[in-house]
Amino acid sequence: MKKGLMKIAALSAVAVMAAAALAGCGGKGDKLVMGTNAAFPPFEFTTSTGLVGEFDGIDVAIANNIAESMGKTLEVADMDFDGLIAAVSTGKVDMVAAGMTATDERRQSVDFSDTYFVASQVMVVGADNADITKADDLKNGKKVGVVLGYTGDGIVTDTLQIAEENITRANRGIDIVQDVKNGKLDAVVIDSATGKALAEKNGLKVVEDAEAFESEEYAIAVKKGNTELLDKINATLAEMKANGEIDELAVKYNQ
Ligand code: ARG
Repeated sequence: MKKGLMKIAALSAVAVMAAAALAGCGGKGDKLVMGTNAAFPPFEFTTSTGLVGEFDGIDVAIANNIAESMGKTLEVADMDFDGLIAAVSTGKVDMVAAGMTATDERRQSVDFSDTYFVASQVMVVGADNADITKADDLKNGKKVGVVLGYTGDGIVTDTLQIAEENITRANRGIDIVQDVKNGKLDAVVIDSATGKALAEKNGLKVVEDAEAFESEEYAIAVKKGNTELLDKINATLAEMKANGEIDELAVKYNQ
């Protein structure tokens, strides 16, 4: 009887130690988990020579600096863009760094850091396309592609009010521009830096329309009320803006 009790005590001590070890090393304590959708060059993409595992890009570099400033290791959680707000609100990830535009709608669910990049939407069209020169041209029965849940989706659907039957929604920007290339779509509406990167890679053209497409501010999202992390993120962003590192990253990853 006594022996059995001792065994139980010993076993639970082992369990407590194992739990402590998990929390200490492998556990969340030493990690900062960044949620993203790594199909958005130059902000996040996958490559065999990534900065963090297979992941690389401007956001990964910024997030890595944030983690470092906290004495933590950055972990990247790659998922559909559409699921990112829920992932950070439920604590599945600590923050979202995903070239995410700080919109009023999203502000209802998450808190955003200071802005670190300003972009706008552009249209990616075929290299010899001559009939799309402004956003309104898309209303002429053009087949338009967007990525599900991106701000471009909202603009095409709600602002431009393109007929639903002419809109194709994909999960990844890098996939949908293929449909412009193979002629299934006339245009893809997507963020400027990504649109330029994807157009260049695929021999396509970018059409801008500064009047139709407002500027969008990218920011990092945290769970509502997580001011502790938000302060650290803003401190790193301020430092990286002041010392020119953000500008350097934009140049480095745009080549
Ligand atoms: N800026 C756009 C938005 O907030 C697109 C962001 C896409 N980001 C990504 N990592 N896939 O909706």
